[in-house]
Amino acid sequence: MKREFEGKVAVITGGAFGIGRATALAFAREGAAVVVSDVADGGGEETVSLIRKAGGTGRCVVCDISNRAQVQTLFAGTVQQYGRIDCAFNNAGVEGAMAPLTALPDETWDKVIAVNLTAQFNCMKHELTQMEKQGTGAIVNNASILGTVGFANAGAYVAAKHGLIGLTRVAALEYATKGIRVNAVCPGFIATPMLERAGLLNDPVMRKGLEGLHALKRLGTPEEVAEAVLFLCSSKASFITGHPLLVDGGYVAQ
Ligand SMILES: NC(=O)c1ccc[n+]([C@@H]2O[C@H](COP(=O)([O-])OP(=O)(O)OC[C@H]3O[C@@H](n4cnc5c(N)ncnc54)[C@H](O)[C@@H]3O)[C@@H](O)[C@H]2O)c1
Repeated sequence: MKREFEGKVAVITGGAFGIGRATALAFAREGAAVVVSDVADGGGEETVSLIRKAGGTGRCVVCDISNRAQVQTLFAGTVQQYGRIDCAFNNAGVEGAMAPLTALPDETWDKVIAVNLTAQFNCMKHELTQMEKQGTGAIVNNASILGTVGFANAGAYVAAKHGLIGLTRVAALEYATKGIRVNAVCPGFIATPMLERAGLLNDPVMRKGLEGLHALKRLGTPEEVAEAVLFLCSSKASFITGHPLLVDGGYVAQ
């Protein structure tokens, strides 16, 4: 039986770890050639070697998405090698320091907005340009539950993710009649290196507290987000565009 993404090309930013790696592996499992890009080179190579070990195809490109020249090189190189971009998962993101607004360091604001919002615009420009030439394509942006509700001490992150959902809706409207669908996933708290860095996974009390915020009383897995991304990129989601899909164990339902 033909796999859903056989013969397709998927580009994933932030594919070295966490949700990006799980999604890269899932796309490869379903037959796509996967371009794994990340600012971290070691992790990206490891993702590609996992893809190859499982019988898939992929390549790693080191790219800081907040650097416009590097983003241009990433997409030009992809089109040169594969001739097209069918699916793009704009996933790379950073968390930033936690503090109330008056104490939020300017550097945190600048960095989080640069990577989590402006850089997504950088990537979408290239993706949409190529997909418009093809007359087909699907983009998924990795937003967050914090793109739909507030969270104290995370002002820059919440603002960037709300902005990203807005940008998703605008892109969906502008390109709907050009064969391109643009959606977002909004994960709840997912067990990845991002939460590990924030000290939320290893401290049992913190972890329990975080789990309790979800109706399902647990954290999500990167693989559960990956399945939602594949669905939104697949032909099964052919009438879905401009939608921020919660993958949140009921966090926002409460
Ligand atoms: N983990 C969660 O609870 C959670 C919840 C909701 C949304 N998200 C979002 O999911 C996405 C992935 O997060 P994750 O949890 O897998 O985190 P992660 O830290 O495990 O992975 C993020 C990846 O992005 C890469 N990256 C960071 N800055 C980059 C840059 N400037 N250019 C290119 N790559 C860069 C990192 O190297 C890393 O591989 C992020 O956008 C994050 O905001 C995560």
